[in-house]
Amino acid sequence: MNHFLDIHKTDATDLRAIIDQASATKQARLGRPKAAPDDELPLKDRMVALIFEKPSTRTRVSFDVGVRQMGGQTMVLSGNDMQLGHGETIADTARVLSRYVDMIMIRTFDETVLTEMAEYASVPVINGLTDRTHPCQIMADVLTYEEHRGPIKGKKVVWCGDGNNVCASFLHAAAQFGFDLTFTGPAQLDPEPEFIGLARNAGSQVIIERDAAKAVEGADLVVADTWVSMHDSQSSKERRHNMLRGYQVNDALMAHAKPDALFMHCLPAHREEEVTSAVMDGPQSVIFDEAENRLHAQKAIMRYCLGA
Ligand code: CP
Ligand code: NVA
Repeated sequence: MNHFLDIHKTDATDLRAIIDQASATKQARLGRPKAAPDDELPLKDRMVALIFEKPSTRTRVSFDVGVRQMGGQTMVLSGNDMQLGHGETIADTARVLSRYVDMIMIRTFDETVLTEMAEYASVPVINGLTDRTHPCQIMADVLTYEEHRGPIKGKKVVWCGDGNNVCASFLHAAAQFGFDLTFTGPAQLDPEPEFIGLARNAGSQVIIERDAAKAVEGADLVVADTWVSMHDSQSSKERRHNMLRGYQVNDALMAHAKPDALFMHCLPAHREEEVTSAVMDGPQSVIFDEAENRLHAQKAIMRYCLGA
């Protein structure tokens, strides 16, 4: 069994195998009704717990549908409704859940909740987003890029805005899949130096460029995310918006990228804030393919975790 805690904690060959399998199983079920089972049922008789300590649309629905397509069953749990939210330790929760279910996906705040769950669970644990990273999203994004433009290796990805959890997983992916990443945003919101170092040590070019137009020059992929993440306090909203306003992805900014550059956003998006509707709904945007690919990428991640 394997956990899927972060992209930099997973072997590069396993990551590549996950992307390839996701692509193959997606092709195999093209045109099939959503609830129709896959040809193979690697999760037959398996029970998967999906725990959410933060809201979710994509992660919740894509994991749930993915498990069912592979023959398994799910139970969706809200952290608040569990004893987890009322003082039971993560370690005890992990031990108990391992007696009932075959795999745990958790979306939480502090990443130590995830790592402690993985340490004490005797079943695989998957990171469905923490304050610090969002690896499932970036596996879907790599799959999406490669479907549209071929190998992502050697490409220039530009992250615009807040150097947040999604940006962190992009840096991990840069290291593992061999692409370069330029970050453009205010210095106060730079990505963690540890994650920048990790990508650079792996041979990726990581550039910090405060001028958004310069940053996007020659980009193969431009990425934005919300300016206020779920773990950010609402009272910081105005300050963050003031810092980030100059990093909005709009048509003028996209004009600096390569003509065939793609635009991605993990969603949910705030239209006319971090990105304009013109870009979101424009020909370079692949945002809904990304959302769909959460399903296909996570199905392959779950198979990797169970060795199934
Ligand atoms: N992108 C993403 O993780 O979306 P949800 O918060 O809706 O799960
Ligand atoms: N950075 C965002 C991503 C949401 C999927 C957040 O953490 O709220």
